[in-house]
Amino acid sequence: MKFSLISTVLAATSVALGTDVHSLTKASFDSFIQEHPLTLAEFFAPWCGHCKALAPEYEQAATILAGSNNEIALAKIDCTEENDLCSDHDIQGFPTLKVFRGSAENVSPYLGARKADAIVSYMNKMSLPAVSTIDKTSLENFKTSDDVVVVGFFADNDANKTFTAVADVLRESFLFGATSDPALAEAEGVTVPAVVMYKNYDDAKTIYTGSSFTTDELLKFVKLESVPLVGEVGPSTFSGYMQSGLPLAYIFIDNDEHKSKFVEILLPFARKYKGKMNIATIDAVKYGQHANNVNLEQQWPAFAIQDIESNLKYIYDQASEITAEGLEAFIEAFHAGSLSAKIKSQEAPEVQEGPVVIVTANTYDELVLDEDKDVLIEFYATWCSHCKRLAPIYEELGEIFWSDEDLKTKVTIAKVDTPENDVPDEVRGFPTIKLYPAGDKSNPIEYEGDRTLQSLNDFIRDNGKYHIDGLAAMKSKFVKEEKIEEHDEL
Ligand SMILES: *[C@@H]1O[C@H](CO)[C@@H](O)[C@H](O)[C@H]1NC(C)=O
Repeated sequence: MKFSLISTVLAATSVALGTDVHSLTKASFDSFIQEHPLTLAEFFAPWCGHCKALAPEYEQAATILAGSNNEIALAKIDCTEENDLCSDHDIQGFPTLKVFRGSAENVSPYLGARKADAIVSYMNKMSLPAVSTIDKTSLENFKTSDDVVVVGFFADNDANKTFTAVADVLRESFLFGATSDPALAEAEGVTVPAVVMYKNYDDAKTIYTGSSFTTDELLKFVKLESVPLVGEVGPSTFSGYMQSGLPLAYIFIDNDEHKSKFVEILLPFARKYKGKMNIATIDAVKYGQHANNVNLEQQWPAFAIQDIESNLKYIYDQASEITAEGLEAFIEAFHAGSLSAKIKSQEAPEVQEGPVVIVTANTYDELVLDEDKDVLIEFYATWCSHCKRLAPIYEELGEIFWSDEDLKTKVTIAKVDTPENDVPDEVRGFPTIKLYPAGDKSNPIEYEGDRTLQSLNDFIRDNGKYHIDGLAAMKSKFVKEEKIEEHDEL
C-alpha cells in the first residue's frame, strides 16, 4: 500500500512537472522523427498492463537520455487515440517499441529489456556508429565500456568491410571498435587482420583464432564466445538453452554469496565441457517454481542436470550439502553415464475407469508402447485452456473405443498430465497429440489436424495398424441395434 501510494504521488509529480517523453500524434509524428536522428517510439494502449509497468521505466530513461544526450528522443503514441498512425506502423500488440533513424522508413524493432538502464544502454549503442574508431588513447577505456566489446585490428579495406558487416548484424548486442594502427595490434599480441573480444567475466580476453576472416566465421565467434561460461537462466536466456539441445546443469541460488561461490566452483567444469553441456545459475527467489520442472524440492541451493534430448532429470541429493567435491563427482558421473535419473510420476490409477486411459510416467511403457495396440495419446497440462476445450471431444473419441469390447483390444485413447510426468516425448506445446501405431512404436505420428471428432477419428483410421474407423463402426452398430429393436417391436 505504502509503495503504491508513493509511486502514485511520484507519477502525479512528474506529470505536473512535465515529462521527457514526447507524446506524438499522426499530425506530429513524421516531422518529429525527421527532426531527431534517433527516436525510440512506444506504441501503447492505456489499459495494457505491460505498458503501465513500462511507463515509469520509460520516463526515467527519457530523463537520463535528455540530460546526457539530446540526440536521442523517447516518444509515445496512444494507439486508442491514434488508430491510423498505429495501423500505418503495423502495430499488433502493446507495447510495441521501435527505433527510428531520422525517417519513418528507417526503422528497426527495439530488442532490449524494458528497464530504464537497459533502454539507456541500448539507445546509446544505437546512437554510435556500428563500429567506433579506436586509437591508442581510447583503447583501454573502450575495452571496459560494456560487458562485452569486440575490437577489430586491420590494415585493409576488405577486412574492414567484413568486420563492419558483423558489427551491423550484432550492433544491438555488443559494442564494436576498430583500429588500423599497427602498433596497437602489436601491443595486443595479434597480427592483422585480427579480432579480439574483451569481457568483464570469464577469460577477460579472447582472440579469434579461426583460419578465415569471413563474416560467417566472425559472427559465430562473437556469438559463441560472448556466452558466459557459467550463465544465468532467465526469461531471456531459457529458450536459447533449450534450443542448444545440450544438457543443462543449473544451480538454484537464493543469495549473491552462494552465487559467486558456486560460479567459481562450476567454472572449471564449464570450461572442460564447453560445447557438451551448459552450466548456469538460476535465481531461486524469482524462478523457484521452475525447480518442479526438474524434479527438485524448493530448497536452496539445489543442483540438477536436465538432459534436454531425453528429457531426463538428474538431481543432486537434496538431503546432503552441495560441496565442490560433491559437484565434481556428480558432473563426472553424469558424463560417464553412471547417474540414474529421477523420474517424476503421478500415481497410476488402480483401475482405469475410461473412456480415456490415464497414463503416468511409470505406466508409459506398458500402456503407450503396447505393441498390440494403436495408442493415441494426448500430452496435456491442467492449466492449458486449449486442452480444456478439447476434453469433451477427446472423451467422446475415447468412448467410441472404450465401449466396444473388440475395438478396446485394438485402440487406446490415452492422456498424460505432462508437467506431472516425465515422458520421453519432446512436447513443444499443449495439447500435443501423437499416435503410437501397434507394431511400430519407434515411429509415432504427431497429429496436426483440426481438433474435431471426425478428424481425430480419421487420423487413427489412416495411420493406425488396424485402420479402424471407430465412428463408422459405431454408426453401423447403432443401425444394427435399431434394427434389432424394430424387430423386437414387431
Ligand atoms: C573502415 O572503413 C571506414 C569507411 O571507409 C573508415 O571510416 C574507417 O576509418 C575504417 N576503419 C579502420 C579501422 O580503418
